[in-house]
Amino acid sequence: MGYCATPIVIAISCFALLLEHAYSSRASAFSKWTNVVELVDSNDNDTEAHHVGGGVLKIQGFGNSVRSKPALYVFGDSIVDSGNNNYLNTISRADYLPYGKDFDTHQPTGRFSNGRLVPDFLAAYMGITFPSPYLASNTNIQQGANFGSAGSGILDSTGSALGSIMPFSQQVQYFQDMKQRLQHNIGEARANELISNAIIYISNAHNDIANNYYLPNSMAQQEGLSIEQFENLLISDLSKHIEVLHNEGARKFVIEALLPLGCAPAFSRISSSCAENLVEAASKYNNLLRALLAKQRRTFIDAHFLLANSFDPFYAIAQNPQYYGFVTSTEPCCNTQGVLGASVACPRGASTCQNDSEYVFWDMLHPTSKIYSILASKYWSGTPSNISPINIRQLVSL
Ligand SMILES: *[C@@H]1O[C@H](CO)[C@@H](O)[C@H](O)[C@H]1NC(C)=O
Ligand SMILES: *[C@@H]1O[C@H](CO)[C@@H](O)[C@H](O)[C@H]1NC(C)=O
Repeated sequence: MGYCATPIVIAISCFALLLEHAYSSRASAFSKWTNVVELVDSNDNDTEAHHVGGGVLKIQGFGNSVRSKPALYVFGDSIVDSGNNNYLNTISRADYLPYGKDFDTHQPTGRFSNGRLVPDFLAAYMGITFPSPYLASNTNIQQGANFGSAGSGILDSTGSALGSIMPFSQQVQYFQDMKQRLQHNIGEARANELISNAIIYISNAHNDIANNYYLPNSMAQQEGLSIEQFENLLISDLSKHIEVLHNEGARKFVIEALLPLGCAPAFSRISSSCAENLVEAASKYNNLLRALLAKQRRTFIDAHFLLANSFDPFYAIAQNPQYYGFVTSTEPCCNTQGVLGASVACPRGASTCQNDSEYVFWDMLHPTSKIYSILASKYWSGTPSNISPINIRQLVSL
């Protein structure tokens, strides 16, 4: 979803988000933060990251002698944006506290949550640095990059009122530019191999529905499109962009399903229950997405298309938070009292709940990092009910 600090209209969401510092870790053991991460193209074995003077962290084990770790390229909205919007002229931003208060640096990065997002947790599992914003100048594109832009959607028109955010088409264009840079930097053969081994993680369409179709007097509704017709349009556009990425050599796709949008406090708080029209819209979209990926698997037999099921586990938690150890799913951790109607984002310097891990939602639209950690662990090593047809750990090892 794109969370937007959109004035006046409450029933709006923009999925938005940040981080410039790179860090590195092994799958489970976190190491420290530093300003710079460098890859050492050595023939050493795949050992721990270690510190080298001046706060520079080097990672060994990416050499030719051992299996390279795959890169992670991320596309989408505020569910994944790690800070691109910090570089853009938009009101859709999370570059101030309390956003980021529980992040590794305890600093705001542009991420629309209190801490790490799913791609960060996945990067940690993979033993690579968090994919940093593509627009940041120091991003190591050989390791990965995050093209996500809070508030954006599959359609170019989605979120355009928020300023110069990057729609999916622009994100894909940047990926194409990046591939050229990679080829220039490390040669065509190595760049192509890197791209074909890379994990392509996509999480979008939240804003197309919540912050486009369902906006009062939206263009789509004025044109008489039903939600089904609109979603078919989205899927068709998504499909075209995926084909472009495939043409560029990407082979390992993970597409995250839509969250049950209507359960976000922006929509659920007043009635204390999920807004059914939005939940149903997300569910229908997910069915179309499932069908699309099945088709892509038949069409591009050289590629993998995983569907990450965010919807079911999230919906279960949102409907029965206490059962899962949360105190509430209709109140956000960030105290937005008094600003209802002015903003769905967490206000600058707002007070927060005592324990983020007990809350499902961080702000009026975005889950807490605790929720993201639960989803990421399911995507990494879960069963086909969580992610299908294989999990990301298996995808990485192919
Ligand atoms: C791999 O690294 C470890 C830890 O530095 C070292 O003890 C071991 O001898 C190394 N193995 C090889 C094959 O280089
Ligand atoms: C926060 O809540 C989680 C989940 O209930 C719990 O495991 C953890 O101990 C709590 N942390 C603190 C500091 O109370």
